[in-house]
Amino acid sequence: MLRRLHHDQPDSFAFTPDNLTWAEAQITKYPEGRQASAVIPLLWRAQEQEGWLSRPAIEYVADMLGMDYIRALEVATFYFMFQLSPVGAVAHVQVCGTTPCMLCGSENLVAVCREKIAASPHEISADGKLSWEEVECLGACANAPMAQIGKDYYEDLTAESLAHILDELVAGRVPVPGPQAGRYASEPASGLTSLRDHEAGRAPHNASVARALDLGDTVKRIDGSEVPVTAPWLGKGSAPSGKADAPPPKRAATAPAAGPAVPESGTGTKPALLERPREGGADDLKQIKGVGPKLEKLLNENGIYHLDQVAGWSADEVAWADENLVGFKGRASRDDWVGQARKLTRGE
Ligand code: FES
Repeated sequence: MLRRLHHDQPDSFAFTPDNLTWAEAQITKYPEGRQASAVIPLLWRAQEQEGWLSRPAIEYVADMLGMDYIRALEVATFYFMFQLSPVGAVAHVQVCGTTPCMLCGSENLVAVCREKIAASPHEISADGKLSWEEVECLGACANAPMAQIGKDYYEDLTAESLAHILDELVAGRVPVPGPQAGRYASEPASGLTSLRDHEAGRAPHNASVARALDLGDTVKRIDGSEVPVTAPWLGKGSAPSGKADAPPPKRAATAPAAGPAVPESGTGTKPALLERPREGGADDLKQIKGVGPKLEKLLNENGIYHLDQVAGWSADEVAWADENLVGFKGRASRDDWVGQARKLTRGE
């Protein structure tokens, strides 16, 4: 399937303060220079916040991780779990249409979605509250047919039970997730014939449903305030930046609109910098693989305009660049800017 960005994009995106704290904590899981590894969790959190991934959201995450936009776009457009167009304000319904669910009646569920939500998948209902799509196996085949609504599974569905669930959601209520036809979990539909000891006195819901009810975030847009952010990998105290008794994160996330870098960490030796480009204008530093428009702008703002400047850097000067280009730490050595710049200046 062709996955494109939506034709109508918002002007901007920003994490809520709590989601930003959460995102900064995730980034600290990865070693210096490998922050891009956090791209999927951060994109996912952006989607949890907004319901879908807009281009500004994808670029915001790319900026936080010092990635070229195309790299984050590749991830967002590759994985079907990322919604690239707006979804219903209340819930997005994902009906499983793979063989076990199809044999158990998923086509009837799709018909309900067409009738009650919108004629086509990824189309928003007239009241703006719901949207739907058909997806591949969600791993709950023993409770086919089923649908994921928001974060939770609704199983053993019929056209009638799904229609009721949709009505409830539109009315502002969230039906209890899990099996909808009287089963406790995924035991035989005709009931247990053995291992029945636990039936007496068991909890009213199976563990998955109980957890969903505890969290209460089935269709909630996640703003970061739901669960306290902890970062045990940072050591005792465990909260990331911005929280009491928190050790500072190894790398501060870069706000997308961050200004030029003027840091002086003391690491390495500052190379000779220029106040302005030499006569004839600046070189196209984007010829260096890994340097995109944003990084080129940052380099220029720090007095680096020409390939031969980079080509002449010593190891100490590379260390300075690695440390002091805020938001892009470690990039100069990781992408071998000096080696690349030397080849480019030689016309290779
Ligand atoms: S086929 Fe529907 S959950 Fe597996």
